[in-house]
Amino acid sequence: MFETIPMMPEDPVLGLSTEFKKLSIPRKVNLGVGIYRDEKGLSTPFKSVQTVEKQLAEEMLLKDYLPIEGDTDFIELTKRLVLGDLANDPKIVSLQTVGGTSALNTTAKLIRAAGVKQIHLPDKTWPNHPAIFEGEGLSLNLYSHLDWARLLSLPEKSAILVHAACHNPTGLDPTKGEWETFLREAKARNYLLIFDNAYQGFGEGLEEDAWAFRESIRRGITTIITTSFSKNFGLYGERVGLLSIALPTENQATKVFSFVKSLIRGVYSNPPLQGQRIITAILSSETLKADWEMELETRRQRIVQVRKDLSKVFPTVNQEKGFFSLLPLSLDQIERLKEEFGLLIVKSGRINVSGINSDNFEYVTQALRQVL
Ligand SMILES: Cc1ncc(COP(=O)(O)O)c(C=O)c1O
Repeated sequence: MFETIPMMPEDPVLGLSTEFKKLSIPRKVNLGVGIYRDEKGLSTPFKSVQTVEKQLAEEMLLKDYLPIEGDTDFIELTKRLVLGDLANDPKIVSLQTVGGTSALNTTAKLIRAAGVKQIHLPDKTWPNHPAIFEGEGLSLNLYSHLDWARLLSLPEKSAILVHAACHNPTGLDPTKGEWETFLREAKARNYLLIFDNAYQGFGEGLEEDAWAFRESIRRGITTIITTSFSKNFGLYGERVGLLSIALPTENQATKVFSFVKSLIRGVYSNPPLQGQRIITAILSSETLKADWEMELETRRQRIVQVRKDLSKVFPTVNQEKGFFSLLPLSLDQIERLKEEFGLLIVKSGRINVSGINSDNFEYVTQALRQVL
């Protein structure tokens, strides 16, 4: 019965963690998966998260199902984080999701059901984007990342996915002026915009990184925001996200909300508890929220510093934002880096900048110099 099921390749990003464990080179460095690493190379959880986890461990918490759309307090608090002053707009619906991935997958199902046949994706993007949208039956049209001129001339009502901030994998974000030109045209052409918001707080700051999609909503564009809290709360494995959809009318918002719930019911039924509890506790306490914001800012600034150091070897990395840079490496060079130096890099040439620290800086840059 399953004879026709094909053998699939390992995931280009998550597969690297398994490969890394197997590498026997003692000096090995993992610049693959997008997990924040501190100065010691560790993916230590946020202190604010650890504080809440200790508190939660003391309480007798029920393990009941959450509603399909998620926890009400969580939605209220995270909506404010993502949408700012727009959080109370009744034309915007928000639902808790299983990380950013399920927010994207639910989006794909929703737009397909709404009659969208094609999605426009950047040619350089998170490898899961094409897989998700194609998997839900949409055809793909790849646009050259940052080729705004081309994006401005797509047919009316095109569905376009953009990275809100910290473009993965290039780290190259549009300027405010470029966003403005694009949004003006998006409104005129009735585009549906999907903002993948996986790195809020790591680009220029929590508010600054939210500017483009908030502006899209303010301009009356039908806007979907798929938020991941994996990176900015360091809750990767807890799977926490938010799907927000800004619609033209309240009536449409009510209908879309009920429809999205029906989509979720058949997939994961309702979202998980623990990550949501942690974020809700942090955002509802002024002290914990301030601590978390400071920790996030410290992480952001460390990445900025690593970029400054690295720019002595690769000048352009200083102009980029967030976790990733795309280095001009061939597949042979990437293989050599792995085999000879234990340096693990995604096959596209993407490196996780936060994986570089003062301890391995010389080693990493020497290795790169040798293969380039
Ligand atoms: C651009 C982008 N979007 C979405 C995601 C998915 O996030 P999550 O792990 O919360 O599902 C990632 C994760 O690396 C990402 O880089």
